[in-house]
Amino acid sequence: MSSAPVLSADSSTESRPTPGTDAAASAGSEWWRTAVIYQIYPRSFADSNGDGMGDLVGIAERLPALRSLGVDAIWLSPFFTSPQNDGGYDVADYCDVDPLFGTLADFDRLTSVAHDLGLRVIVDIVPNHTSSEHEWFRSALAAAPGSAERARYMFRDGTGENGDTPPNNWQSIFGGRAWTRTTNPDGTPGQWYLHLFDASQPDLDWENPWVREQMVDVLRFWLDRGVDGFRVDVAHGMIKAPGLPDYTPPANAGSMGGGIVGLEPEILLDEDHTPPYFGQDGVHDIYRVWRRVLDEYEGDRALVAEAWVEPLQKLARWVRPNEMHQAFNFSYLETPWEASALRSTIDSSLEVFGSVGAPSTWVLSNHDVVRHASRLGLEGENIQGAGIGPNSPHHPDPVLGLRRARAASALMLALPGSAYVYQGEELGLPEVVHLPDASRQDPTYFRTDGQRYGRDGCRVPIPWEASAPAYGFSTSGKSWLPLPPEWAELARDAQEGVPGSTLDLYTRALGIRAEENLGLGAVEWISEPGDATVAFRNGGITVIANLGSAPFELPAGEVALASGPLDGTALPVDTTVWLR
Ligand code: GLC
Repeated sequence: MSSAPVLSADSSTESRPTPGTDAAASAGSEWWRTAVIYQIYPRSFADSNGDGMGDLVGIAERLPALRSLGVDAIWLSPFFTSPQNDGGYDVADYCDVDPLFGTLADFDRLTSVAHDLGLRVIVDIVPNHTSSEHEWFRSALAAAPGSAERARYMFRDGTGENGDTPPNNWQSIFGGRAWTRTTNPDGTPGQWYLHLFDASQPDLDWENPWVREQMVDVLRFWLDRGVDGFRVDVAHGMIKAPGLPDYTPPANAGSMGGGIVGLEPEILLDEDHTPPYFGQDGVHDIYRVWRRVLDEYEGDRALVAEAWVEPLQKLARWVRPNEMHQAFNFSYLETPWEASALRSTIDSSLEVFGSVGAPSTWVLSNHDVVRHASRLGLEGENIQGAGIGPNSPHHPDPVLGLRRARAASALMLALPGSAYVYQGEELGLPEVVHLPDASRQDPTYFRTDGQRYGRDGCRVPIPWEASAPAYGFSTSGKSWLPLPPEWAELARDAQEGVPGSTLDLYTRALGIRAEENLGLGAVEWISEPGDATVAFRNGGITVIANLGSAPFELPAGEVALASGPLDGTALPVDTTVWLR
């Protein structure tokens, strides 16, 4: 065993005020400042009618399990009317439920079951684009260039002879070009329309006041039904730079615009490095209007930005006091498993969000990234959106990945602010690497001719019962993506009440987090920058994560939580402990 550095709260100890305490005088104790929010991907959560696709009735039936896990809120990925070309992020009717998932009455019942259990409900809103099957887009295609119907979207004439060159060089986030040419009623080629994502997801023109009015009506529709907030999809999109100038992203940028490895914050803050389709200043006007709408409603309704914006100093603009309430902290998700890098991201998150009176959020997994139980066991780079499949250059080490994932989750759940848990991470689910090609559905896979596997591997339905067909995901055993045979032992009922299981770790962590009010606390550093541990005190809990290469001798204290077995009084590598 190596000699361990001495743990002491010496004069270098730094305490960061968290919003909600002393720093932000205006800040209160609104639920979203500290909530642990559980992301439900409706297709893959629970299927009550046996068609192989999760649904709202299935979700309502399983909510007591989330109550006993100890989360405060659920966020539902889209369940709206949609042709499902992008898992429902292609919305054909913002104010109805797709029959695949149920009815509006099912949604109302789900909301009331959730509220009775003390769980808040956040729904997804997808404002950057509609589905090409939305009535607005159908009528835009049927109308002439220059019409009011076309002005709701980004239609442009092509360039070059016969207009057969797209209006600019933008590439779709999912691969291929971001423009598709239309065909006129007489069969001749027509105008082009912009789609930052799939061709079936045309971008709306947010300079058009009509679009703004419609989307406020959509917000009101769901607020009136009692939702507690919205997760705003592509909240850094919507406004495009005037003239739609050409742009080529840096080679190492994640597909959503984040993960720009190696660029200094100062450079990223420079507007020249802002893609003309992401992070434009004009988006903030939209959110200021939305904030006023939410403020009219009782009960702390919240807006959460999905904005892949770096650095954090820039992301903080989305959560200024009159804009959104929270933004996903993707910088945290993308921070490598290295002590100094993590400490520095934690520090800047608390500082930067705190400076505008917003809570920091923490997130490690969602439906767009490789699950962290695999990501943290991966050597080599894996850019967001690439996924992992049979022919990927690097495959995760599952044992190392799970060990680190448990340590990372135990670290995350001790931090002040609000944390996100993606369905299945509480079971330690890994990314599914060996999906049959024929079952893949992510448009990324098709638009890149299989060069990028995309995100299906993190979207596989979750296992509930080890001995049931489809592990209890569906009543019939059908499942839109197959569950791997080795998931029997990860099923919820195989972990429930089993000390040391990942479910037990999450349940206990959330219990202590609530008891000790860690969400409202503050980080008081114990480890020094450069140490191999990330160690801090938050209220009555001392948290130590060992990211080094040797065991770490623990100080005295009662072990309240450990992400893996301890070795006597030593904290093994890739393990996190909470001491009282
Ligand atoms: C967001 C969603 C993602 C979707 C994209 C387009 O990033 O999280 O799943 O594909 O927006 O709507």
